[in-house]
Amino acid sequence: MTRIFNPWPSSLLLSLIISVHAINNRHSHGSGLATPKIDTHSHIYPDFYRQAVIAAGWTPGPDGNPAPPNWTLEAHLSFMDHNNIEKSYVSCSSPGTFLDPEDLAAGILLTQQFNNFTADLKRQHPNRIGFFASLPLPSVPDALNEIDRALALDADGFVFLSNYYGLYHGDPRLEPVYERLNQRGAVLFIHPTTPCPRNAPDVSGTSRLDYVAPLMNVFSAPTLEFIFDTTRTVADLILSGTAAAHANLKWIVPHCGGALPSVLDRFLRISSILGAKPGSDRPAVPYNITTAVALMNRQFWFDLAGFSMQDQIWNMKRLFGSDKFTYGSDVPFTAYSAAVALTGDMNATLPQLFSKHEIEMIFRGNALKLLSK
Ligand SMILES: *[C@@H]1O[C@H](CO)[C@@H](O)[C@H](O)[C@H]1NC(C)=O
Ligand SMILES: *[C@@H]1O[C@H](CO)[C@@H](O)[C@H](O)[C@H]1NC(C)=O
Ligand SMILES: *[C@@H]1O[C@H](CO)[C@@H](O)[C@H](O)[C@H]1NC(C)=O
Ligand SMILES: *[C@@H]1O[C@H](CO)[C@@H](O)[C@H](O)[C@H]1NC(C)=O
Repeated sequence: MTRIFNPWPSSLLLSLIISVHAINNRHSHGSGLATPKIDTHSHIYPDFYRQAVIAAGWTPGPDGNPAPPNWTLEAHLSFMDHNNIEKSYVSCSSPGTFLDPEDLAAGILLTQQFNNFTADLKRQHPNRIGFFASLPLPSVPDALNEIDRALALDADGFVFLSNYYGLYHGDPRLEPVYERLNQRGAVLFIHPTTPCPRNAPDVSGTSRLDYVAPLMNVFSAPTLEFIFDTTRTVADLILSGTAAAHANLKWIVPHCGGALPSVLDRFLRISSILGAKPGSDRPAVPYNITTAVALMNRQFWFDLAGFSMQDQIWNMKRLFGSDKFTYGSDVPFTAYSAAVALTGDMNATLPQLFSKHEIEMIFRGNALKLLSK
């Protein structure tokens, strides 16, 4: 197939998320789309949700993006056909479904509406669409209700934003949620969001901050904050002992682990020396690189959304081999045409590191094993 799929003009968002390299190479590697794929990082953006995000004050686009993405089911399915994606596991991206921390009722309602909508998509296209349900966090009791409701709607897993108004994933307040999900052996897909978006506790825990993303006046959140917030919340899951305490939970970490591959050893070492701060609500479990990688090999997977050809994937292979990676397109935040170009990048780079069989597993087989019930 030589024609480049391009239902819409290249999005402004795309330049934030993918490398110039990918765009330049879209023609040379466009033939790499033949491998069948399962997409574990893929979003929908229905109109009711677009309006809710705008009403919550995220303008022009969410998380400092210059515009909201364009999504229709038809464009999504057409992208899947073109890029040989058998199945998309769709989810709500950042800023999630709890848009006003002061309005719990609205958060619960939008979460239910979104989950109902994705469940309907799955009912209409059971072989092509799966979904990761959203939870109305930080409200733990309401999240527990929604877990049960979403499982009854046949959710394939749950999307967890990297923080909920400052609630990070190792927080002991989440224990009832993890306990319930652990009983069900759930898959939890982590999605980055702006750090402590609104109303987060400050360092003393006694007053509230508006934003702790000081460079967001310069760079949209996906440029820097998403990468580091993902890394921060995964570090919290590991160092707090939360992941190890819930051995049936499986996490999908986005964007090839964010900054993890280059900083994992470093934060493990410092934490093993300094521990947790006195009076902290977390223990600090003294992992070293060997024990942490063993833990992560049991319970963590990594998607390749926003693939970059340098560094991350090389380090990740060294740490985790080949069977922990899944394909991710990040559409429509990555424009459909850009996601096709990134697939071309993967096809060009992965053979330098992996065998043909391993590449087939990365595009499809690993996700199939993880997500088939
Ligand atoms: C969405 O579509 C509109 C109308 O075609 C266009 O003006 C806008 O730039 C598109 N947004 C993105 C993010 O591509
Ligand atoms: C990957 O791209 C190369 C050209 O760069 C092509 O020869 C090959 O068939 C592609 N692989 C797959 C699995 O599509
Ligand atoms: C979600 O669907 C259920 C039925 O499955 C319905 O009772 C409920 O009102 C719906 N909620 C919203 C917010 O649409
Ligand atoms: C890491 O910790 C384990 C268990 O505490 C220990 O057996 C192992 O020797 C340590 N490895 C390194 C590289 O420090």
